[in-house]
Amino acid sequence: MSTILALLGSKRKLGNCDVLLSEAVEGAKEAGVRVDVLRLADLNIETCRGCLSCVYKGTCAVTGDDMPRLIDKVLAADGLIVAAPTYLLSPTAVIKRACDRGLMLSPYLEKFSGRQRVAVTITVAGNARWNPLGVELLNQFALAFGYRVLDYLEAYSPGPAEVLLQPEIPERARELGRKVALGLIQGITARQAGETQCPICYSRALRLDPDGSVTCPICLARGNLVPTSAGHKILFDPESLKDHFWSPEHRRFHLADWIVPSRDKYLTNRPRLKELLAKYRN
Ligand SMILES: Cc1cc2nc3c(=O)[nH]c(=O)nc-3n(C[C@H](O)[C@H](O)[C@H](O)COP(=O)(O)O)c2cc1C
Repeated sequence: MSTILALLGSKRKLGNCDVLLSEAVEGAKEAGVRVDVLRLADLNIETCRGCLSCVYKGTCAVTGDDMPRLIDKVLAADGLIVAAPTYLLSPTAVIKRACDRGLMLSPYLEKFSGRQRVAVTITVAGNARWNPLGVELLNQFALAFGYRVLDYLEAYSPGPAEVLLQPEIPERARELGRKVALGLIQGITARQAGETQCPICYSRALRLDPDGSVTCPICLARGNLVPTSAGHKILFDPESLKDHFWSPEHRRFHLADWIVPSRDKYLTNRPRLKELLAKYRN
């Protein structure tokens, strides 16, 4: 039986994310998968030290925190549901903290290739005007942990569990849970992206350059803004969609052609850097 990992990025017990994640978990179970729930916000996840030991040596230099437990769960789960509230315009810090440690998956990337790994995400904020990055950064989290994003839910409700006052939202969360489970069991049916939305990560926060070219800051897919009778749409370059930042091909390239050679370059420069650093030591 397939396993889905359900992650909660809020400290609030019985808060909005907790309730919506429970609905999604029930939906996934009804569709016939096993679900493993982890309260991400209650785990001890240390800050990445930037040593890249995970890439060079295959083990993280941080010891004694809960990150290896999270990595084991991610390796065991072909599906992911992640729910987190927005604090100060983006998902809670635990999402970014875990994402920064995502290179710990580097030694296992080949294990994923050819496997269907799919995710759905749930962002909750107090007000739709103040959540510009909730969908974007939760979807980035899913991509960083090796999952393709199938769909997402945005919910807006400030007080704990107030989301229950809009019954269509818990229903939609349940459907989302069913969708990720069926994505695993029956194959992929991903949400259709809007005309000004990235088709990989569903980002609507896109970089527009003066020449009309558009880059998605989450997955680096590229396209062009083109006029339509209704206004504008973005035509994405199919090659950049195939080879986006989180694709297995690009991840291999990033490790083998960038991170590994940058170490050799650094080691060559190290004696000179040591001299240049002398005046900063105190
Ligand atoms: C410190 C803090 C910062 C917040 N920042 C935002 C924000 O930038 N935008 C917004 O719409 N809501 C913001 N909220 C509201 C929460 O996103 C909202 O209460 C949400 O329902 C919390 O989800 P939970 O019940 O699952 O914890 C903030 C709440 C807190 C406590």
